[in-house]
Amino acid sequence: MYNVDKIREDFPILKRKVHGRQLVYLDNAASTQKPIQVIDAWTNYYKEHNSNVHRGVHALSQEASLMHEEAHVKVGKFVGAKNPMEETVFVRNATEAANIVAYGWGMHELKAGDEVLSTVMEHHANIVPWQFLKDRGVKINFVDIDSEGNLNIEDMKEKLTKKTRLVTCVHASNVLGTINDAKEIGKIAHDNGSLFMLDGSQSVPHMQVDVKKLGCDFMIFSGHKMLAPMGTGALYAKKEILQKMHPFLGGGDMIHEVTLEKSTWNDLPWKFEAGTPDVGGSVAFSAAIDYLNKLGMDNVRKHEKEITKYAIDKLSGIGGMNIFGPKNEEKRSGLVAFNVGELHPHDVAGILDSAYSVAIRSGQHCAHPLSARLGQTSTNRASFYVYNTKQEIDILIEGILKVKEILGK
Ligand SMILES: Cc1ncc(COP(=O)(O)O)c(C=O)c1O
Repeated sequence: MYNVDKIREDFPILKRKVHGRQLVYLDNAASTQKPIQVIDAWTNYYKEHNSNVHRGVHALSQEASLMHEEAHVKVGKFVGAKNPMEETVFVRNATEAANIVAYGWGMHELKAGDEVLSTVMEHHANIVPWQFLKDRGVKINFVDIDSEGNLNIEDMKEKLTKKTRLVTCVHASNVLGTINDAKEIGKIAHDNGSLFMLDGSQSVPHMQVDVKKLGCDFMIFSGHKMLAPMGTGALYAKKEILQKMHPFLGGGDMIHEVTLEKSTWNDLPWKFEAGTPDVGGSVAFSAAIDYLNKLGMDNVRKHEKEITKYAIDKLSGIGGMNIFGPKNEEKRSGLVAFNVGELHPHDVAGILDSAYSVAIRSGQHCAHPLSARLGQTSTNRASFYVYNTKQEIDILIEGILKVKEILGK
């Protein structure tokens, strides 16, 4: 039985008052809050086990190394990796993971005339690293969306060419909420002889994601959007691809042997983790996975679907609202972007914060091309997670009604 009141007790920050009122945290797509189990795992690591990894024969170093390795296995298994340890590279965030692919694979594998096919609904993390490849003569194409914010698969098929070496897209849009049919897109990519990279930043925290079933060659995601500390994230990639790929950063721990002339690379995944890693972060990432596994990802998805449907129904009942993304909750993740008539999103978010202690996001959500495509300079976004309640949505709605009253629209 999914007990949201009990879940909330695990999150110390949710007890906080902001501007004298109970915090309503609806900015989970940017970063989630952390349960005490994750905070304790992090502090316990520093209290009991802290040491540098892979370098010492002493007990603490051995313990830290084991904990760091076990965290890789835990995260890899969570997303269905066939070789959980070797195929899971720890990074600071999804952005870093995308850059590893662009530099380690793109800069070496792609040549002038080759193409990367992305989409207009991407976060900048899945656009800018590919633009770096333009200097090599690589062409970047973008699949369009339809009027409801669904990816236009026909457009994708038209834009796919024999020169397309990589198809990449977001699994769940951080603005529209749209859940793309990753399995179908992966098949389209593979039938064309292209590799497939999925941006799982807004899906892995919210639903069961299996890289094998979806046919991912690469997948990027952030730990901090799924209860883990800031500065955690992962790149999943197939073992055979990582074996061939060039390392992105060079230095300690990523090498096997170094002479003054040349170096050879360490085993996977360490080949891609140069320098001292964030072991405390890894251990806490592992605790976050334990927490989500205990909740059950199907239950997490069910809870968010309910909250999102409730929010969309209530928002739709307010006059003059502009709500973005698919209407069908089966096709969308746990967030909703909206505009309150012509009111500037920063004004809306500012009043919601100061008068109702409701934290939502306003702006372009690191998706400038999507904003342009939607014809919006910015939008508001409320995004939900395991601890959000319908009562919190009611406070959001009450706040929006007040904003309309104050600003006279
Ligand atoms: C869809 C999507 N991709 C990538 C990212 C980048 O994540 P990070 O800032 O952790 O690198 C985000 C962050 O909001 C996102 O929503």
